[in-house]
Amino acid sequence: MKTVVIVGSQWGDEGKGKITDYLAQDADVVVRSQGGNNAGHTITIDGEKFALRSIPSGIFNPNIQNIMANGMVIDPKQMLEELDGLVARGVKNFKLAISNRAHIVLPYHRDLDGAYESERGNRKIGTTKRGIGPTYADKANRIGIRIADLIDPVLFKEALENTLPVKNMELKMLGLKTYTVDDIYNEYIEYGKRIKKYVCDTSVLLNDEIEAGKKVLFEGAQGVMLCIDHGTYPYVTSSSPTASSVPLNTGIAPRYIDTVLGICKAYNTRVGEGPFPTEIEGDLATYIRERGHEYGTVTKRPRRVGYLDAVALNHARRVSGVNYLSLMLFDVLSGLKTLKICYAYELDGKQINYVPATISELERVKPVYVELPGFDEDITKVTSFDELPENAKAYIRKVEELTKTKVAMFSVGPDRKQTIQLVDLFNASSK
Ligand code: IMP
Repeated sequence: MKTVVIVGSQWGDEGKGKITDYLAQDADVVVRSQGGNNAGHTITIDGEKFALRSIPSGIFNPNIQNIMANGMVIDPKQMLEELDGLVARGVKNFKLAISNRAHIVLPYHRDLDGAYESERGNRKIGTTKRGIGPTYADKANRIGIRIADLIDPVLFKEALENTLPVKNMELKMLGLKTYTVDDIYNEYIEYGKRIKKYVCDTSVLLNDEIEAGKKVLFEGAQGVMLCIDHGTYPYVTSSSPTASSVPLNTGIAPRYIDTVLGICKAYNTRVGEGPFPTEIEGDLATYIRERGHEYGTVTKRPRRVGYLDAVALNHARRVSGVNYLSLMLFDVLSGLKTLKICYAYELDGKQINYVPATISELERVKPVYVELPGFDEDITKVTSFDELPENAKAYIRKVEELTKTKVAMFSVGPDRKQTIQLVDLFNASSK
């Protein structure tokens, strides 16, 4: 077992960056396969905090080959700012490869993202306004511009000449400012020059690495509930954060995926709009939000907070083939009298154990909970499962029972050292 896919099993922000960073200590390659700078991965190394958006979390380790694969949408301006910021803080000698097939986010994508949100009024999705949706829409519409175009002056100019008339019509219709070819070309061609040295066919590189027996970690962004196909549509992102999407988004065979690690908080959060069956409000929500620092990495928005939802986790297990779970921010629950886990939904008087397809149904469901006694002990210094208080152990066992999935890791604080690994994932059975 040499490849591990990390999948957000809730609504994003589960702590994937931390686990990627932790497992990256054992990995040779770290790959970002979808999304863009809508993601925000916070990593704490020796007390120092780093917030990554589009760059893979293996960037801190000079031995790791980092790959930004074809399924990503890359904002060249933001990505270079992010890279410059890391270099300024002493991150150097990194290995980074960027797919020539990845699509690029241009200024009009960001403008359109904002405008479409305003147009939706009270049906707004609550996007990160990073232009992600409009960039994926152009890709599907076959008017997107790719990294391979950006790094070639002739191709880039041609692509802008072909695309801008259509985009300008759209911008005009929404009352937004239009762009000339030169407006974009003169600025972005410079980004292309800087990015060029990292660009290659990352599918070839990745296949070579896998065939050479290297350990590869696929770093998920967002979460299964935000999947364009399997999430709470339309309150979703515009790509698929499932493990199933990894082969397509990176150019490898499905048989190369060995283990899928689902990352979930010991509770639940969501940013942006859309139904959230186990949402809680009031003092309890504030307690969890403050202890868990539940504010968006990218937008700083306070996150909505809820109880752990095993119906959603089972959905993630089904559509993404999750073999193991990593339970994050477990320490945040300390001090709660009662711990609740939702194991079913009640929809119009009937108990169901799946996530309904429509928003109106999902808004009507009532969570059905199992209740467990809480724990008061500070668990931030725990280094093994055995050191956990009995009630905390029982919580983990209940999560395993309700999700039919083994908890392979749990986390009791932001630092790398506060991660307890119970299964060697690169050598784990995928059954
Ligand atoms: P978009 O990806 O910017 O189009 O936003 C669509 C939805 O996905 C919004 O509800 C965002 O808040 C959510 N979203 C996108 N990326 C992330 C993420 O990395 N973590 C959590 N939510 C996200």
